[in-house]
Amino acid sequence: MVDTQVRPVGATVDSGANTLVIEDLHVNVGGKEILRGVDLEVRQGAIHALLGPNGSGKSTLANTIAGHPKYEVTRGRVLWRGENILELSADERAKLGIFLAFQYPTAIPGVSVANFLRLAVRNVLGAVPAIEFRRRLRATMNDLKMDDKFATRYLNDGFSGGEKKRAEILQLAMLKPKLAILDETDSGLDIDAMRIVADGVNRLKNPEMGVMIITHYNRFLNYIRPDFVHILHEGRVVRSGGPELAEHLEGVGYDTLLKETEANGR
Ligand SMILES: Nc1ncnc2c1ncn2[C@@H]1O[C@H](COP(=O)(O)OP(=O)(O)O)[C@@H](O)[C@H]1O
Ligand SMILES: [Mg+2]
Repeated sequence: MVDTQVRPVGATVDSGANTLVIEDLHVNVGGKEILRGVDLEVRQGAIHALLGPNGSGKSTLANTIAGHPKYEVTRGRVLWRGENILELSADERAKLGIFLAFQYPTAIPGVSVANFLRLAVRNVLGAVPAIEFRRRLRATMNDLKMDDKFATRYLNDGFSGGEKKRAEILQLAMLKPKLAILDETDSGLDIDAMRIVADGVNRLKNPEMGVMIITHYNRFLNYIRPDFVHILHEGRVVRSGGPELAEHLEGVGYDTLLKETEANGR
């Protein structure tokens, strides 16, 4: 069972658990400060939704956690299972079980979904014999009710929004991370794509894995019920709460919600 109490900032965290704790994180991109003191905790077994207006720094946060070298951390810590991971490379973080779905905006000719996944699995989990890999891929696709033929398609070559999301969920299912970060950009999130991601996460969620779903699109949360909701604004988490916070946001909109938050002294 997920404990629905939001832990006060500064409380101790069981360092053995698959918990991510972000403390006072400041990040520059291209010399400009984009994250300006993010405090956030993503807990084992819980689904967290990170919401925020466009440009608030959601993707910057996701990429910083994953270890993208373009993002320059100037202050703060990112603790994974109690250890600061900021000095680790993206590959090393992936090997520790941190997953950020790779967004590939362009087609990659000659690389099938299956080949791409084999490389990703080898990179993160270690080499697997081809027969074993194919068996695992077939079983996983079967579980996810995906057509076998999808694995032979070239990555993103004419993929619909829904197919891109299918590739993302399949990647998640094959890598079995302990922390899954899904940055659902608005483009390509049609109803079909939203359902695929939501069904996939609902199917794959487990007590070992924390999930952070990033979206600008409140309607997404009609398909998935987060345990915790966080609002990012101008590079800071200005409000955290339970699912009712997303409902409230849907009702009043960002402007009103942010005004309320200011009025409450944040
Ligand atoms: N590569 C970059 N160079 C300069 N500024 C960037 C870059 N990427 C993002 N930004 C800026 O950082 C801010 C936050 O961007 P982003 O993290 O993508 O926000 P969100 O995902 O919440 O829409 C925006 O103002 C954006 O213009
Ligand atoms: Mg973004």
